[in-house]
Amino acid sequence: MAACSGDGAGGGGGNDSDKPGDLTIGVSMPTQTSERWIADGTSVKEKLEAKGYKVDLQYAGDDIPTQSQQIDQMITRGADVLIIAAIDGTALSGQLQAAADAKIPVIAYDRLIRDSPNVDFYVSFDNYKVGVAQATALLVGLGLKNKDGSDGDAKGPFNIELFAGSLDDNNAHFFFNGAMDTLKPFLDAGTLKVKSGQTKIDQVAILRWQQEGAQKRMEDLLTSSYNDGSKVHGVLSPYDGLSRGIITALQNAGYRDDMSVVTGQDAEIASVKLINDGVQSSTIFKDTRLLAEQAVVAGESFLQDKTPQANDTETYNNGVKVVPSYLLPVQTVFKDDIKSVLIDSGYFTAEEVAAGQAKG
Ligand code: GAL
Repeated sequence: MAACSGDGAGGGGGNDSDKPGDLTIGVSMPTQTSERWIADGTSVKEKLEAKGYKVDLQYAGDDIPTQSQQIDQMITRGADVLIIAAIDGTALSGQLQAAADAKIPVIAYDRLIRDSPNVDFYVSFDNYKVGVAQATALLVGLGLKNKDGSDGDAKGPFNIELFAGSLDDNNAHFFFNGAMDTLKPFLDAGTLKVKSGQTKIDQVAILRWQQEGAQKRMEDLLTSSYNDGSKVHGVLSPYDGLSRGIITALQNAGYRDDMSVVTGQDAEIASVKLINDGVQSSTIFKDTRLLAEQAVVAGESFLQDKTPQANDTETYNNGVKVVPSYLLPVQTVFKDDIKSVLIDSGYFTAEEVAAGQAKG
């Protein structure tokens, strides 16, 4: 365990005599191009500052060397705890070793950091269940299932296409596995058909989760597999940014009222508007306020020389060890759920949903 008694500047972990104002938490976030990571970074910073801690928050522009450098600097500047959402989950072993040498506990934020013994805790959502929820939302959107889990009236067969996230993000594999386990009986029965034949994660993954990458792949799929007048009825998309790229490709190809059932994740405001407007079918809401809160609770435990409380000590093997985790539940959001799940909880206002923009 890297929890420690603290040994002065850069010693990490704090000690009993340290006041919050003497302690700095380094927060390393992947990118500001996605609104969710801005919300995550802001939430973590505000919650830590409200407790009196100093926060060194950095965004890495989805550039791996930049993130490594930023973490190196946090360590040099004497961070007492690191909270990291990695761009490439396998690229930070050197930084994590330096953190361990300086006795700085490391919390992996939403994305597991792999191939390193120096990850002390993991806060995330139940990522396999996210995949199950995405596939289930696709089945509900197509009418094969009802929201209550009973069989829907639709019979199919339906043409679908599959997308996955960035292969260097551990989560992408959990989402895809959860989704494919859920879709398998329908694929086996022929109720769902992947017309392109691309069903392996490395065929359907989108590097860095980029919207443009998803748009390009969807355009290619339309050209290669749907130039015979057939329709794409559904698209499994694991993230709202990808969903927006997919929807743009479909719209450019003339899809309007016959828009495919497109899933998503993160309840990004631009996508919540698309759902409200009946363009995107669903998203999976992961309350970043709760995730930020868990990161703060875990960080504070380390600063007080305690072990953060895990609720999962089995699932997240990072290739070297099982990392104790705190996993939060997720909620599926269709148009009907926007008010009860997103507005009534204060995550967005009705005005923000209508505008498709958060006021921040
Ligand atoms: C994943 C995360 C998703 C989504 C995606 C793209 O690691 O779990 O919620 O945000 O990155 O940013």
